[in-house]
Amino acid sequence: MLNLGPIAVDPPLFLAPMAGITDRDFRLIVRRIGGVGVVTMEFLQSKGLVEGDRRICRQLWFDEEERPLSIQIYGSDADIMAEAARIVEARGADICDINMGCPANKILKGCSGAALMGDLKLAERIIKTVRRSISIPLTVKFRLGLDERRMNYLELGRICEAHGVQAVILHPRTARQMYRGEAAWQHLSALKEAVSIPVIGNGDVRQAEDALRMLQQTGVDGVMVGRGATRNPWIFGQIAALLSKGKMPMPTMEDRRHLILDHFRTVIEREDDKMARFKLATFTNWYSHGLAEGLRLRRQIHAMETTQGFLDAIEEHFDTVVLAEAA
Ligand SMILES: Cc1cc2nc3c(=O)[nH]c(=O)nc-3n(C[C@H](O)[C@H](O)[C@H](O)COP(=O)(O)O)c2cc1C
Repeated sequence: MLNLGPIAVDPPLFLAPMAGITDRDFRLIVRRIGGVGVVTMEFLQSKGLVEGDRRICRQLWFDEEERPLSIQIYGSDADIMAEAARIVEARGADICDINMGCPANKILKGCSGAALMGDLKLAERIIKTVRRSISIPLTVKFRLGLDERRMNYLELGRICEAHGVQAVILHPRTARQMYRGEAAWQHLSALKEAVSIPVIGNGDVRQAEDALRMLQQTGVDGVMVGRGATRNPWIFGQIAALLSKGKMPMPTMEDRRHLILDHFRTVIEREDDKMARFKLATFTNWYSHGLAEGLRLRRQIHAMETTQGFLDAIEEHFDTVVLAEAA
């Protein structure tokens, strides 16, 4: 078990923030399957939050059942970040997280996300101001640095510790690397040695066994899983079972079919047609990994023009390909 201030994270497993993915529906799916300690919302732009942008404020919505829940904010102005963090606290989040790792150009240009690793003075000002402005636990998520010649994650980790941050989350790739290559887990051990606050390890946990390997090899206090959970939302329950030396639950193809269709029906109910089709296509990309003839399904889905067409195509794919093959 891991404690972040008054929040018990048990088991010490985190669903990573993923823009376009970890919306309320997906967080609930993961929470209901079980085994996850904390679920994290998609990142929220601090400026939009403070200005009351409707789309961003709508994203802030969550369900009591999701708790403990972390809400991540990004931005480059310390006062606006502090105000956004106060909104996050007032809205009832259990944890506030600051994004200092996003490598997307759009975010870097605004000197947010990983760009803050190129300006540690500004990063420090943000951390200090936000920490003073809220009383819920604060975490900071970052990468190794801007590129391999400028790896300053140890320095940033120490800044976090000095200003009372409850835990740091490291995805050990540089911003330049984006998602290429392998996450260099040895840096998780180095950060663990450099700071005395909890370190959460993130990066390339694809299967339950990887999480155990990360904990054993690096000594991190917790594990955060992103893409692995989109392909397999059962992964947290599987890791939790391995941690308690229990039997690892394996979803059947019927379980997968129900999960996909239930999720998609909720998306269709909740979103407008354009957003629903976008989300269904995104999730089909993730969910179809490892399914028989997944590529064919993905191609077919991308040509769909109606949401009902999506559901029919998935039903049919399971009936004629997946379950037929499993029989
Ligand atoms: C589609 C997608 C969206 C992401 N959005 C965010 C985000 O909003 N905030 C953030 O800190 N990281 C974001 N990330 C990075 C993940 O949180 C995580 O650090 C990264 O995927 C490495 O972990 P993994 O190998 O378990 O996926 C995103 C990653 C993906 C694939």
